[in-house]
Amino acid sequence: MDKHTVLVTGGAGFIGSHACVELLQAGFNVVVVDNLSNSKLESLKRVEQITGKTLQFYQADIRDKTALTDIFAKESIATVIHFAGLKAVGESCEQPLNYYHNNVYGTLVLLEAMSEANVKQLVFSSSATVYQPSETGQYSESLPLGAINPYGRSKVMVEDILRDVAAVDKIKPNGAPWKVALLRYFNPIGAHESGMIGEDPNGIPNNLMPYVSQVAIGNLKQLSVYGNDYATPDGTGIRDYIHVVDLVKGHIKAIEAIESDKFSGGGCKAYNLGTGKGYSVLDIVNTFEAVTGRKILYQFAPRRAGDLAECFANPALADKELNWIADKDLEDMIADTWNWQVKNPQGYVD
Ligand code: NAD
Ligand code: WQD
Repeated sequence: MDKHTVLVTGGAGFIGSHACVELLQAGFNVVVVDNLSNSKLESLKRVEQITGKTLQFYQADIRDKTALTDIFAKESIATVIHFAGLKAVGESCEQPLNYYHNNVYGTLVLLEAMSEANVKQLVFSSSATVYQPSETGQYSESLPLGAINPYGRSKVMVEDILRDVAAVDKIKPNGAPWKVALLRYFNPIGAHESGMIGEDPNGIPNNLMPYVSQVAIGNLKQLSVYGNDYATPDGTGIRDYIHVVDLVKGHIKAIEAIESDKFSGGGCKAYNLGTGKGYSVLDIVNTFEAVTGRKILYQFAPRRAGDLAECFANPALADKELNWIADKDLEDMIADTWNWQVKNPQGYVD
């Protein structure tokens, strides 16, 4: 494949930093734009140490049109992977305008800058939260959308915008068509096998895996298991956890698909990135204990508002059209999370 330059928005973050490693190792040139609102520059220094390669970093906000226009003028970018955005569901309910401003307005500014620079290949970080809750717990791309919180709605809005933008090419062809892959992530966890980059949440983690990991290292006292009365085998919530390195490999497969005949006429297509397997909260606790030898103290607590009993992917479409399947199992995900945690007990220190 013709290797070229990829602009990674939000490249200093959890998933973005892992994507930079895989892109550099696959031979792409990498340009990162990040405002460091939820990350540290240290993550990108570690990316360079892991790969022995350099990347170009711009500290800028994607809502800053002038900054983006300058980046597109200076770098010969072929494809954008768009990770930048805010991602905490609870916070989005308290600060909806901030979420719509960063995630929706930010994407609009990015799309305008891309359009003006005639860069029309985009891989977008969407989420399983875009789906309307379904009884079965399993989600295929054809199921109806209907997010239930501002964060999820910001992702649905961006997906809608991207479908509209790509549809214009069919009505009124104008040069190279837009080629857009919407990647709907399930629950990304784990870390690079080196333990040099990983998830570094600010303050007390909202998500299960970083919380468990911080209980294990002694930063937090005990886990609250939100609900033990769900209609699941052990009563706790079931999710589809996916290793972050598998997840970012899906992005490289998406770039390859975008540049192949599959996207020759342009278009916008959504793909689930998950393993297709569900694990309960207690499965996670028990496997974490087995893999690390650490005891995870926990107590049962009431259900968390907005949580579903079960959520796992049907990942068949990504297998069929992107030639991508997740490779790593839950033990790998936990071993790599723990390796990162032990090597970086306080996360990144700039
Ligand atoms: P993250 O917070 O670690 O990374 C996001 C990065 O974007 C951060 O480095 C942050 O500083 C940057 N950023 C935020 N707003 C910005 C702005 N306006 N301009 C420039 N940079 C900005 O989050 P992550 O877990 O790596 O998630 C990456 C993407 O994947 C997000 O869009 C998120 O919504 C999506 N996603 C994440 C998950 C998950 O569980 N982690 C699941 C589904 C989807
Ligand atoms: C997993 C399970 C909790 C914490 C969220 C977002 C979603 C996506 C990924 C971005 C659930 C239980 C959790 C704790 C617990 N992000 N839990 N105690 O809720 O599936 O998804 O992150 O797109 O949009 O909603 O992930 O890790 O928070 O929870 O018992 O302290 O762990 O109830 O069953 P979730 P999570």
